[in-house]
Amino acid sequence: MPVLDKLILVGGKRLEGTVQISGSKNAVLPIMAASLLADGTYTFGNVPRLRDVRTMQKLIENMGISVTLDGHTLRIYSQPCEHCEAPYDQVKTMRASIYVLGPLVGRFGRARVSLPGGCAWGPRPVNLHIDGLTRLGAKIHFEKGYIVASARRLKGARVSFDIPSVGATGNILMACVLARGTTVIENAAREPEITALAGFLNRMGARIEGIGTSRLEIEGVDELHPADTDVIPDRIETGTFLAASHLTGGDVTLEKTSPALVNSILDKLRIAGAEITETDEQIRIKSDRSIRPVDVTTSVYPGFPTDMQAQWMALMSIADGSSVITDTIYSDRFTHVAELRRLGANITLDHNVAVVKGVRTLSGAPVMSTDLRASASLILAGLVAKGRTDVSRVYHIDRGYETIEKKLQMLGAEIWREQEKLVV
Ligand code: EPU
Repeated sequence: MPVLDKLILVGGKRLEGTVQISGSKNAVLPIMAASLLADGTYTFGNVPRLRDVRTMQKLIENMGISVTLDGHTLRIYSQPCEHCEAPYDQVKTMRASIYVLGPLVGRFGRARVSLPGGCAWGPRPVNLHIDGLTRLGAKIHFEKGYIVASARRLKGARVSFDIPSVGATGNILMACVLARGTTVIENAAREPEITALAGFLNRMGARIEGIGTSRLEIEGVDELHPADTDVIPDRIETGTFLAASHLTGGDVTLEKTSPALVNSILDKLRIAGAEITETDEQIRIKSDRSIRPVDVTTSVYPGFPTDMQAQWMALMSIADGSSVITDTIYSDRFTHVAELRRLGANITLDHNVAVVKGVRTLSGAPVMSTDLRASASLILAGLVAKGRTDVSRVYHIDRGYETIEKKLQMLGAEIWREQEKLVV
């Protein structure tokens, strides 16, 4: 009988103390893929120990490259890959596997990468990645569910995105750094994870200008060399712990983070009644038990992140009034709504707009997580729900939060992990 982990919470504890924020999942994944661009040894510090990092590790190992993870230090010993391929089994568990496409085509002139398909909350196309690579001269066709790309040497071009896609910006950047001539990426994503990737590529010898803006200009070079870096703090883990603290009327200091990465979240939390103090690498959040209702609309960086939408909804579920939460990045990322309702939340959903009427209390129940951020939202709700909440299928949470239950336990939460036999 298959066995899966679940998390059990008994709500009602005020969170207090200090928590260390891990390195960013969405920053480390493209940096790992960038190691395909030059042979030699790469050392990455502050690497979060997550399922998605292991998936990217396996993907690179399958190409004949060795990778070691020792504590939070990851080393990649890059060499020309034996198979320029990302198989379906891995891509289906992690969409970010698509990040190997750009470096493989850019350096080796060939790649066979499975199409990611849908994810738990709907279709997420990769047309911008494909169109961008085609603009750079790659020949691309689809074969049995795979993207098959080939090229001699890519040629610099103007790539203008309809949407400032994070993944497509990262992929095109990694493809064009070794292209002949100049590439201009217009309407590029400005997310900190892309800024970190571009900075890292420059440390490898790339010539990227305009980093942090929506117009990137890249002068192709003939060769790159390995580099080392520390992974930036995870801004979504930061936001999740901030929301958890405010939800429980807590007093929590977050360490090894960066307030500058989460300004949009801090602004909203202040309006929601939290008292926040910041230093360079720390944030302290103190709250009494009142949570003011605050509307949010997700948008690209530096706007309010879609990856915090579900957690914000958990917070608003017990606010003193009604709030409106709109997701403009994904129109159907709302699988947490039905589960939050099982805990007593009053939420109505119309397309991509949720109206949340705060209730006095939530009450514990068995719930099931269906994706990473939905799981985080259910855990937050479980922290304040009366009685016991069982959150099943937490393998989703292990994709993006390092030992979340241990970090919450240290802050005083009653939460533990158990194995659950799956009846099929
Ligand atoms: N889009 C297209 N065509 C494309 C690519 C994207 O239409 O070719 C659309 C998407 O469907 C979506 C929007 O553009 O509506 C933005 O998608 P984007 O490409 O920016 O997202 P991503 O690169 O696939 C990354 C993060 C996500 C995060 C989004 C938005 C990684 C590994 N993933 O995804 O993180 O939600 O940016 O900020 O960086 C998470 O961590 O839980 C997560 C889902």
